[in-house]
Amino acid sequence: MNKRRAKITALGKFIPEKILTNAELEKMVDTSDEWIKTRTGIEKRHILEDDKATSDMIAYAFENMKKNFKINPEEIELIIVATITPDMFFPSTAALTQNKIGATNAWGFDISAACSGFLYAMEIARQFIENGTHKKILVAAAETLSRITDYQDRNTCVLFGDGAAVVLVEPTENNEDTGVIDSILKMDGNGKDYLHILAGGSKHPASNETIKKRMHYIYQDGKTVFKFAVSRMADVSQEILERNSLSGEDIALFIPHQANKRIIDACANKLKLKKEQVLINIHEYANTSAATIPIGLVDAFEQGRLKKGNLVLLSAFGGGFTWGSMLLKWGI
Ligand code: UT7
Repeated sequence: MNKRRAKITALGKFIPEKILTNAELEKMVDTSDEWIKTRTGIEKRHILEDDKATSDMIAYAFENMKKNFKINPEEIELIIVATITPDMFFPSTAALTQNKIGATNAWGFDISAACSGFLYAMEIARQFIENGTHKKILVAAAETLSRITDYQDRNTCVLFGDGAAVVLVEPTENNEDTGVIDSILKMDGNGKDYLHILAGGSKHPASNETIKKRMHYIYQDGKTVFKFAVSRMADVSQEILERNSLSGEDIALFIPHQANKRIIDACANKLKLKKEQVLINIHEYANTSAATIPIGLVDAFEQGRLKKGNLVLLSAFGGGFTWGSMLLKWGI
């Protein structure tokens, strides 16, 4: 008899309408469409309206999910939100989401794992499902990165965009073998120097000085992060494949975090994956941190690239450093 697994049973996304093009960025900083496209693969990014916040995007993604799947918000028991751009310090974005979507019977919390946030949140959801205490969990990953991006810094401002996606996680029934098969999650706090926002927390609370020094924006040492991202994502993906007696050719679709097309290509090469096995949408949305992987899942599902029984490999790397891989057998 197969053990109870945590399975994605519904999904939806929200991408803001407003677009910031590479051509517009050329007018803001010393950059070029050519540089951005060749060094990152990014062609545009979407920006949330000023009067909206991360929980609004989650609510819109939830609406999108409800259009395609039958969902009663009152049946949701737990909401886990992966984000580094919460609406505010507290209440949690999960609490704000609960209120907006009418999930009156849910408890919930936010988790902060930067670009690996969706994988971390899915692993937490998986534990609650496998141990039998919960039956309907909403996992949301959403980022309004435009609010923490320094549009005077060409090293970072070309990279990031806004977006959100949600998945519903439920237990498998009738001995079904789909769902989360395995996951490996890692962290190395030495990464703190290379990718961070210094101010706004208890270490450097907001002050005139932190604002003057532009310490409330993302800082990234791109070259260092690039090298770690390629090796860590490829290694952890290899590890999860080997641990499950699989190789690259068994994977129907690899959905990696979308930070840089060159990172994705390098990982795919190391895993010996063919082009058609890899989901790439960075040209559309840029890097939306925790949201890239679930947005990728929604895109792949909408495009018919996910079929029931397919093996799907997810992998991410981000601030912390945090990274990991998750292996799913697709079940919808
Ligand atoms: O999602 C979380 C994890 N994040 C990542 O995985 C991102 C990892 N890093 C990267 O994707 C890449 O390192 C970047 C896209 C951020 C940068 O690409 P790179 O090929 O590593 O460029 P670089 O930082 O080594 O810079 C090369 C040159 C520099 O000029 P000099 O010093 O050679 O004269 C930069 O100043 O490119 C310059 N540069 C730019 N030029 C035009 C940096 N940003 C820009 C820009 N436009 N936007």
